Amino acid sequence: MNTPIYDFLRNYSEKNPLRCHMPGHHGKHISEELAELYRLDITEISGADSLFEADGIISESEDNTAAIYGSGAALFSAGGSTSCIQAMLGAMRLENRRIIAVRNVHRAFLNSCVLLGLDVEWIMPDYTDGILSGTVNLSEVEKLLRENPHSCLYVTSPDYTGRIADISALSAICRKYDAKLLVDNAHGAHLHFFPNSMHPIALGADMCCDSAHKMLPALTGGAFLHVKDRAYKPILKQTMSMFTSTSPSYLIMMSLDLCNRYMAEEIRGDIEDNLRYIRDFRQRFAHRIIFAEGDPFHITIKAAESGFDGEEFAENLRKNGAECEFSHRDTVILLMSPLNKKADYELLGDIVEKSLEMTENRDIQPISIPPVLPVKAMSVREAALAECVELPVEKAVGRICAAVKVPCPPAVPIAASGEIIDENCVKIFKSYGISSVIVVK
Ligand SMILES: Cc1ncc(COP(=O)(O)O)c(C=O)c1O
Repeated sequence: MNTPIYDFLRNYSEKNPLRCHMPGHHGKHISEELAELYRLDITEISGADSLFEADGIISESEDNTAAIYGSGAALFSAGGSTSCIQAMLGAMRLENRRIIAVRNVHRAFLNSCVLLGLDVEWIMPDYTDGILSGTVNLSEVEKLLRENPHSCLYVTSPDYTGRIADISALSAICRKYDAKLLVDNAHGAHLHFFPNSMHPIALGADMCCDSAHKMLPALTGGAFLHVKDRAYKPILKQTMSMFTSTSPSYLIMMSLDLCNRYMAEEIRGDIEDNLRYIRDFRQRFAHRIIFAEGDPFHITIKAAESGFDGEEFAENLRKNGAECEFSHRDTVILLMSPLNKKADYELLGDIVEKSLEMTENRDIQPISIPPVLPVKAMSVREAALAECVELPVEKAVGRICAAVKVPCPPAVPIAASGEIIDENCVKIFKSYGISSVIVVK
């Protein structure tokens, strides 16, 4: 697979012309380790194309991505899935579609609703792992789509714990009601390369975002926005450009370009190997650890159910040389990547073994405060942009939530802007260690 962005940057760096253009470092480094990165970092000079008006090397590389995934078109983002979510929702706003969303959204979604002035019809999932994860009730989806013609359904899958929604079934329901299916696939860029593709576009979604920097070897900030119908590409370029920098990083785009080559040539073999290593890892600890089901690369440990405190276990992992993605009393998430090798899993296995020995056995009940949809008093936008004040959570009962205050990670809402904070919210805030909340003044 060709790599037009990488090749352009390499050639430019090798030609080494006198740079009389941005960025201000002019290819000269101020840190020895970053010397090559400074040489490759450029702006929209002649031949370098331009992300939001792409018709050259960026567009060619985006088409390579679309061909790899089998999507109608792919757009690069140097602002993560966040920019892709803004773009998808912006396109829905232009079509005046109603937004129906399964509640365990990332805050990037809520912030986009503030920016775009969108109000949301929520579907509460059947929560099973605190606020992090739950299953979507298909009949509730169907009911809401029937009641709300001209809408779109927004689903987060895989969620933070790796749980995957039934995208095929959701897409069939959306087709029946002429609704668009938007998937926050920030955690699932690798799913296309499983023996049978589990990528949302392959399963019928209309649009989805993939944080290439989460599950692929892209630099932080690199993401793909996939769309089934190529006719949307110019609209999505326009809506993405509304909220993001006019100077997207060429280093990030170069890393997406190089991901194309990796995906075309190597990833399938790496995924096959990793699936074997992960299976062996889970078997090794099956007697001691209860794992959640879902995407295998999200090794989600149900700590409380396994009889130990997740925070204590994560601290012991740290002492023994491993850093996890997320830890909470009830849950620890170890996030693996197709780039991991057998030796990584052997090392991880030894560290987990040692950490388990150091972690006390405890009789802990997982927190089971089912989130209940709070009463709405204002639109998301009105509340988020209102004058506000920060209060201890105990004093916030009855007040309207202003900021999207969520623990990050995992950044899913307990109360969204515009909703009245109730006793249930306070209990959940406390269980995630949140002691204060920003409310409308
Ligand atoms: C489910 C989910 N969606 C969206 C995002 C935002 O992605 P990004 O950081 O690539 O902008 C995240 C980030 O953690 C996420 O976990």
